Amino acid sequence: MVTVRPVANFDLTDHNGRSVTEADFAGSHLLVYFGFTHCKVVCPRSLGKLSRVLDGLGEKAARVTALYVTVDPARDTPEVMRAYLEHQHPRFLGLTGSEEQIARAKKAFRVFAEFTGDDEAPDGYVVPHSAIAYLMGPDGDHLDHFIDALEEEEVMQRMSAAIW
Ligand code: NI
Repeated sequence: MVTVRPVANFDLTDHNGRSVTEADFAGSHLLVYFGFTHCKVVCPRSLGKLSRVLDGLGEKAARVTALYVTVDPARDTPEVMRAYLEHQHPRFLGLTGSEEQIARAKKAFRVFAEFTGDDEAPDGYVVPHSAIAYLMGPDGDHLDHFIDALEEEEVMQRMSAAIW
């Protein structure tokens, strides 16, 4: 079996309107999660759990930058992402970009997401997506990843063990 590792390689805009690449976060661990702010269940659950894990990591959390990358850039402008994150998940920095930039970031992290029609959703669509958080080291190496189904305690233990 071939294991394809995610690579931290992106050229995006953060929720403060600043252009950022992975080089801007060199020296920090990255915890990277992809989703979209209209997501009703999965993103709130994952972002909430990951935020509690970071809270529980104490001083080790200071060595981690948590990034929330949108798979729905048409709606998730920097302003929309900032408004969503600063009140509900303030540990996360939102990243967005053009469709092409987001497509490249998804490919680098091996993330799957696909627009799907849903008459009951705002604007008539949702974007089901991979629900995996990627932990990258300060040198860009992939250290671990956490599927949404994992218990908070396991994510905490594995993150604590992996952060250096
Ligand atoms: Ni989501």
